[in-house]
Amino acid sequence: MAQGIGYAHGKIILMGEHAVVYGEPAVAIPFTAVKIKATVEKNQGKNSIDCLFYKGLVEEMPELLESLHKAIDISLEKIKKNDWLSIKIESTVPAERGMGSSAAVAVAVTRAIFDYYSRPLMDDELLEIVNESEKIAHGNPSGLDALMTSSHVPYYYIKNQELSPFDLNLHGVLVVGDTGMTGKTKEAVKDVADKVKAYPETYGNDIRALGQLARESLYFLENDMPVELGKHMSAAQELLRKLDVSSTKLDQLITAALSAGALGAKLTGGGRGGCMIALGKDKAHGAKIAQSLLDAGAAETWIFEMNGGGPVD
Ligand code: PMV
Repeated sequence: MAQGIGYAHGKIILMGEHAVVYGEPAVAIPFTAVKIKATVEKNQGKNSIDCLFYKGLVEEMPELLESLHKAIDISLEKIKKNDWLSIKIESTVPAERGMGSSAAVAVAVTRAIFDYYSRPLMDDELLEIVNESEKIAHGNPSGLDALMTSSHVPYYYIKNQELSPFDLNLHGVLVVGDTGMTGKTKEAVKDVADKVKAYPETYGNDIRALGQLARESLYFLENDMPVELGKHMSAAQELLRKLDVSSTKLDQLITAALSAGALGAKLTGGGRGGCMIALGKDKAHGAKIAQSLLDAGAAETWIFEMNGGGPVD
């Protein structure tokens, strides 16, 4: 039977979340430790979907999956076909944890639909479809999630500017800790916007400071300067806390990572739950930090070698 397959993975924002919405730079990496596979096949009567959160008709999908619904509708409109499809989603990307799950699922499903019809899908077109669907999930997406969950290289990203991939040259491991609590990206993005509007001097400056930290971090990432990067990560966390996008649990995990000797630690993604990241010197140090996170109540941890090594078993 004809089948279309599409893949995507998670992403980790190293620096610049929230500020990126205001035109400041962000630095992010593809996070292939967590992945999504979508499979599309012909169906008998109506479009159906089978994923962890829902199994049933596309037209009756719950609000939580509204952005995915949008990506399916736009893809089918573009392809101009109206056969009935069955869409199956297998995912290890935790939902609403700052790893770009909503964008990743839209990327995988869009790719699978285009693959099913043997239609080429240019990167620009994929990003356009996913960004459109992300407007529902995020309100005002920077476009970073769509890019990073579909790309295999790290990016220095500024909204509406030419894309700049960069070469990661940093000895160190990234430890990711999941609070086990869902993040609240849409709400956090809106609250930051309200703050910036009400107090442009104070919070506008914080946004610019976050951008400056991201700008300088690019140099550290390209020139193997983990100690300097760690300090910038912790400085960014202070600003993100000031913008009120951290949470008690995130702060606890960050403290645990630092007490295990992490070079720096911060939240990643939208915040208010979701995941935090910490920088360790090597695999053994990463394992120590991960243990300290688990002891402090992390739901899950991942250790990721920065220099192209990928996930550590
Ligand atoms: O929580 P996530 O994985 O969706 O990441 C959100 C990142 C923000 O910078 C807060 C928003 C955006 O659109 O870039």
